[in-house]
Amino acid sequence: MSRVYNFSAGPAVLPEEVLREAADEMLDYKGTGMSVMEMSHRSKAYDEIIKDAEKDLRDLMNIPDNYKVIFLQGGASLLFAGVPMNLMKKGKAAYIITGQWAKKAAQEAEKYGEVVKVASSADKTFSYIPDCSDLDIPDDVDYVYICENNTIYGTKFWQLPNTKGHELVADVSSCFLSEPVDVTKYGVIYGGVQKNVGPSGVQIVIVREDLIADGPALSCTPTMMDWKIQADNESLYNTPPCYGIYICGKVFKWIKKMGGLEAMKAHNEKKAKILYDFLD
Ligand SMILES: Cc1ncc(COP(=O)(O)O)c(C=O)c1O
Repeated sequence: MSRVYNFSAGPAVLPEEVLREAADEMLDYKGTGMSVMEMSHRSKAYDEIIKDAEKDLRDLMNIPDNYKVIFLQGGASLLFAGVPMNLMKKGKAAYIITGQWAKKAAQEAEKYGEVVKVASSADKTFSYIPDCSDLDIPDDVDYVYICENNTIYGTKFWQLPNTKGHELVADVSSCFLSEPVDVTKYGVIYGGVQKNVGPSGVQIVIVREDLIADGPALSCTPTMMDWKIQADNESLYNTPPCYGIYICGKVFKWIKKMGGLEAMKAHNEKKAKILYDFLD
C-alpha cells in the first residue's frame, strides 16, 4: 500500500491513525458485532458516539453552554439557505463578499430577504480581504455574514469584521479546527466537515441558543433545516449521517490527543512555511 501526498482542498486528507482505527472497527464496532454503518442511530452504542463527538468538539473549541452544536447533512451549500431561513427575522442581512462561496451564500440569501453587500474584494479577483473596521452596516440587519477562509483564493480574515453590534455568522468550512477560536465573538459558526474533520455530507452548526429560541425566521423553513428542532432533538430528529459523525468524532479525539487547537495552529503554520518557503 502506498499513500500519496494529498493536497486536495476537500474532501481532504484525514489522519491515518483515524482511518486505521475505523478500518479495525469496520466489521465489529466495540463488540457490537456490526459496523457503525449498520447500527441504529437510536442504539446505546451510537448514542455514545454522537454524544462523545459533541462533547469533544465542545472541549476543543471551548464552546460555552449557551451555544448549541448541531450535526446536519446536505453540505455547507445547504446552509447558504439555512442561515437566512433561521436568522433573517427582520428580512435583511449584510454580506461581505470575499470569494465564490460568500458570493453564492449571498445569492442564495437574496431568495429569502434583502442582502446588503457591505464590502467586496471582487474588484481584484478576491485577492484580498477588504478593510472591515468601519463598514456602513444598516442598523436593521439581522446578521453580518463572512466566509472566514476563502478556499479558492487562499485569503483569510485575520481580524474579524467590526459588525457594529450585529451578530456575526461565519462559514468556516476550510479553516474549521485549524486554530483556536473565541466562539463568543460569533452568533453562528458553521461549516462542511470535508476539509479538516471528516467525510463530506456532514455539516456542523454552532449557534447561540437565543438566536433560535423562537424557531426559524421563515415559517416555510423545512423541518430538516430548522435549527431549533434539530437542536431540541440533539441532531437525532431523523437518521443523521451516522458514519460521517463517527469519523468526525474520531478526528476530534485525535486533535485532542495531538494537543488541541494550539497544536493544530503550530502544525499548520509549519506546513504552510514549508510550502511558502519553497514557492518564494
Ligand atoms: C468555504 C466553503 N464554503 C462552502 C463550501 C461548499 O461546501 P459543500 O460542497 O459541502 O456544499 C466550500 C467548498 O466545498 C467551501 O470551501
